[in-house]
Amino acid sequence: MEIPGTTAIVSGAGSGLGAATARMLATAGANVALLDRDLALVEAVAADIGGRAFACDVADAVSAEAAVQAACEAFGSIRIAVNCAGVAPPARIVGRDGPLPLAAFADVVAINLTGTFNILRLAAARMCDLPPLATGERGVIINTASIAAFEGQIGQAAYAASKGGVVSLTLPAARELARHGIRVLTIAPGTFATPMLQGLPADALRHLGEAVPFPSRLGEPVEFAELVMHIIGNVMLNGAVVRLDGALRMPPK
Ligand SMILES: NC(=O)c1ccc[n+]([C@@H]2O[C@H](COP(=O)([O-])OP(=O)(O)OC[C@H]3O[C@@H](n4cnc5c(N)ncnc54)[C@H](O)[C@@H]3O)[C@@H](O)[C@H]2O)c1
Repeated sequence: MEIPGTTAIVSGAGSGLGAATARMLATAGANVALLDRDLALVEAVAADIGGRAFACDVADAVSAEAAVQAACEAFGSIRIAVNCAGVAPPARIVGRDGPLPLAAFADVVAINLTGTFNILRLAAARMCDLPPLATGERGVIINTASIAAFEGQIGQAAYAASKGGVVSLTLPAARELARHGIRVLTIAPGTFATPMLQGLPADALRHLGEAVPFPSRLGEPVEFAELVMHIIGNVMLNGAVVRLDGALRMPPK
């Protein structure tokens, strides 16, 4: 799909991978609607790249529907949707205070899995109504999982389960939406230098980088954004989960 003049929505665009993706899309000439539950954060990014910011809690049906509606009113119909909103609070199944509160597990699933599906379903419904492009495409939806979907570590039961769900919905979504010319893919990043990881002590961050076989460092958000751009441009990519991890395979802890 050609990017200039096309409308894209990016969730979690206030920070990290989502912000880098929104920036690269804007530089390539897309109309970018930046969605995040942190409005101040996402307004600053939007102002910087010439996009439009919308408050959106991806886990909430009403909030997401209003944000997608507002994005369409601002820019016209969406052809690109990139799901980057997510949280990764570490928590053991049985901790010092007993079993993990069920609500803590459910919150992570609500944001990472249900939230991804929420944007996917709303974007897909809009895309279905659009005329096909010369490639036959109507749209492309890119989700963000994690290599934790495959090698979840101790303390990542909720996070890994939520990301495993994102991996698993990719193929059925691509199969169902194929007849509308809508592609669905998921990127499973390894370890990237974003605010999500930057709360860790410097030593832990250095170790994380060194654990990557090659290149032995954390990924840069711009490298994630470059993969998003390639996926958008390559119509043959569909229904796949693409690892972006420098050959990293996470150990148990
Ligand atoms: N950084 C990494 O190493 C890494 C690795 C694998 C996967 N990921 C995934 O990539 C995605 C982006 O992560 P990041 O590293 O850029 O993190 P980040 O914390 O920098 O950005 C996440 C953004 O999502 C927003 N967000 C959180 N909950 C939301 C909600 N309910 N509704 C709307 N927005 C919400 C936050 O406000 C924030 O702006 C996440 O899904 C994360 O799980 C990150």
